[in-house]
Amino acid sequence: MVVIFLALGMKAEARRWLLRCLDGGYHAFSRRLLFRISAQRAHELMLRTLLIGERLPFTVAIAKLLRSLCHAPKPTEVGGVQLSQPLIVAAGLVKGRGFADEAAALRALQKRQHNIMPGWRLLPALAGPVEFGSFTRFPRLGNAGTVVWRDEKTLSTQNRVGLRNPGARAAALFLRQRRERLPAEFGINIAVSPGVRDNAQQERDICESLGFFLDAGLMPSWFTLNLSCPNTEDDPQQHQLEAETRRLCGAFIKLLRARGLEIPLWVKVSPGLADGQYRALVRIFDEVGVKAVVATNTLAQPSPGAATLTAGLGGGRLHAAALRAVDALTAANAMRGYALDIIGCGGVLDGDSLHAYRQRGVKAAQYWSALVYRGPFAAAILEEEWAAHERRFEAIQREVLA
Ligand SMILES: Cc1cc2nc3c(=O)[nH]c(=O)nc-3n(C[C@H](O)[C@H](O)[C@H](O)COP(=O)(O)O)c2cc1C
Repeated sequence: MVVIFLALGMKAEARRWLLRCLDGGYHAFSRRLLFRISAQRAHELMLRTLLIGERLPFTVAIAKLLRSLCHAPKPTEVGGVQLSQPLIVAAGLVKGRGFADEAAALRALQKRQHNIMPGWRLLPALAGPVEFGSFTRFPRLGNAGTVVWRDEKTLSTQNRVGLRNPGARAAALFLRQRRERLPAEFGINIAVSPGVRDNAQQERDICESLGFFLDAGLMPSWFTLNLSCPNTEDDPQQHQLEAETRRLCGAFIKLLRARGLEIPLWVKVSPGLADGQYRALVRIFDEVGVKAVVATNTLAQPSPGAATLTAGLGGGRLHAAALRAVDALTAANAMRGYALDIIGCGGVLDGDSLHAYRQRGVKAAQYWSALVYRGPFAAAILEEEWAAHERRFEAIQREVLA
């Protein structure tokens, strides 16, 4: 059918038809089956599927073909990066296995075929730009037990994965071993080390993490500094205070410049901060040369597993708080005449929620929960829903003017 449409030159019509099939198919089959098992098991199954998919010979080629059929090119310049499309898979999916220590992570890498970062190849092939990470200086096993939940009624997710990752050194070496097959556009998200209280140590940790990726000769399209992980029982706001933010972002950019690299730095912030704090952050970002702010990370809420612990809320129930953060950041930007780009993140689940960001002048957005609720072709489906929304709006405008 698609081939017939294409042969007739009806590319847009063929794409819409294909997207309707993929969206309907996901709702009717995959999502229905996946939602019969717990969010935790579904999450593990998804990572396993990526792992197996990356072992099979033709999956990446098929994924690329599907993407080329589903996505209308929409080049977007944001945060100092030229992207092929404005929707980016957010950090937290392609971040790799956790390890007890660096030696164990490096040992796993010695088996060259051992994939410690499922999704590194298949997800970009299928979905386009992906932010890898978060990576911390040393590996982390993350929190034990159930760490992922979903609330279907509100299209929300909650997690307390706790920054499980193989550590920056192993992640950099893993990606270096596969340098020729890395996607054309991807970001690397580096997080401050939870639990490290000493300022100088924090700074050393993020600079060493960055150094591993640079020494490996990796040239991501952007780096993101994650100052806002709520799932480690650390005080996440601490890193978003003025002096702390200036020091960490300043050190990061200084190191990039010392290497003569123009790779832009984005910073990921929390929802729910006071307007004054967002204003201060925007001022610092402008002063030190941060190119974009990702607004926002998940919102710290009591964990569904144990109310004394926190688990970051994403999806539908995060949307309003993320929009409030975008509003505060936009106002600060406008008041001072700064050129900081804002990348929306939080509850981008359909054409309307995407529109809410675009209405605010947001050029690009990141998504995670949409993968759960809309499936692997979420970006293309959301773009199409947004375009339909725009077409309807234009038609109404024409009618009113006629
Ligand atoms: C299971 C899971 C793990 C995540 N891990 C990270 C992470 O390591 N680093 C990070 O910056 N954000 C992480 N996030 C947050 C997402 O990147 C995103 O900011 C958040 O889910 C809000 O987007 P959404 O409403 O589209 O889900 C994680 C989210 C989920 C659901």
